[in-house]
Amino acid sequence: MLTMNIEPDLFSPYEMGRTKLRNRLVMSPMGRRRAHESGTPSELMAEYYGQRASAGLVITESTHPALHGKGQPGSPHLFSEADKRSWAKVVSAVHDAGGTVFVQLMHSGSAGHHSVNGGRQPLAPSPVRPRETTKVDGEVVEYPVPREMAVEDIRRVIAEYTASAALAIDAGFDGVELHVGNGFLPQQFLASGSNRRTDEFGGSPRNRCRFVLDLVRALSGTIGAERVGFKISPGFSVNQVEEIDALETYTHLLRHPDMAGLAYCHTSAFSDAAMLGWIADNWRGTWIHNVGINPTVSAQAVRDKLLAALNRGADLVSVGRVFIANPDLVERLEHDWPLAIPEESSFYGGGAAGYTDYPASRHLIAK
Ligand SMILES: Cc1cc2nc3c(=O)[nH]c(=O)nc-3n(C[C@H](O)[C@H](O)[C@H](O)COP(=O)(O)O)c2cc1C
Repeated sequence: MLTMNIEPDLFSPYEMGRTKLRNRLVMSPMGRRRAHESGTPSELMAEYYGQRASAGLVITESTHPALHGKGQPGSPHLFSEADKRSWAKVVSAVHDAGGTVFVQLMHSGSAGHHSVNGGRQPLAPSPVRPRETTKVDGEVVEYPVPREMAVEDIRRVIAEYTASAALAIDAGFDGVELHVGNGFLPQQFLASGSNRRTDEFGGSPRNRCRFVLDLVRALSGTIGAERVGFKISPGFSVNQVEEIDALETYTHLLRHPDMAGLAYCHTSAFSDAAMLGWIADNWRGTWIHNVGINPTVSAQAVRDKLLAALNRGADLVSVGRVFIANPDLVERLEHDWPLAIPEESSFYGGGAAGYTDYPASRHLIAK
């Protein structure tokens, strides 16, 4: 019998539901803290994302659906008409270059801070203060103890997410990515360490999944399930989200019929290995895996790592830091061109330096 051995190919197109992606490489969300003080995205952000539009899918940095969900200065908002108008310029920059772009929606929950969130006590499933510290005006400070969300707070926050998602679609985004990882509000609900509630939103894995499932249903009802993706980092403990039963909790979540029709499941590099195995065997929708790549390696090494993830069953692979200094990463990987190394001191905050001034290879070759 003739058998065909089809190698997964990073550079072939992929149909994610009705969204056609031109290759399998995804730009992973990265907060670069260059929004205006008002929270509206800056012109520089449009230039930055436009430069990286040759990725099959660009996912923006974490963006707040409400001011009380903010934890750091410089991170962008998406809850006003002004935010929408500025995001529309980012979207145009990516679309004009032939790309596809989702916005990542993120509520910090207990990792919020009154210095940037309108002076309010942060909201969380339970009054559990993150063990980590944060910085305010360059000074290291502790997080405040958050306020336990009443059921009305939960309903209001879900309504804020859906209003933000509707604005995202009006701004032209191809979809939204719900940030359910890295210890922020949705993961704080999933994890027993940060969720000590005794009502229907706490206790068993089933109850701890309720917030995320209610949120997903509301978002799907507003913008359509095929335009909602989500990112998870099962087992990644930060902000007191200790997950002692990650496999049980996330299998309950991902088996739920309301998750099945979503645009994609995006797994972080810091995910529990058993859970990744479960996803490889059981998740029937699009799976984006964030491999985790040291940005000092060669194009060949990056390609090998990405192909290995495709071989393990991922449909798409996401890359973070390597994209920072290599706006034309797709072309560099295709042609085996050298990779530039990003400067870490300009990851967060600042202007064009270390943000939009990394040149594309063609520009270097033309010189
Ligand atoms: C500067 C920076 C900002 C990040 N911000 C976000 C974020 O806003 N949302 C998110 O889901 N992950 C964020 N991450 C994590 C990345 O998306 C990615 O998962 C991580 O960097 C590992 O992938 P890499 O090794 O390819 O960089 C950030 C990472 C970096 C380096």
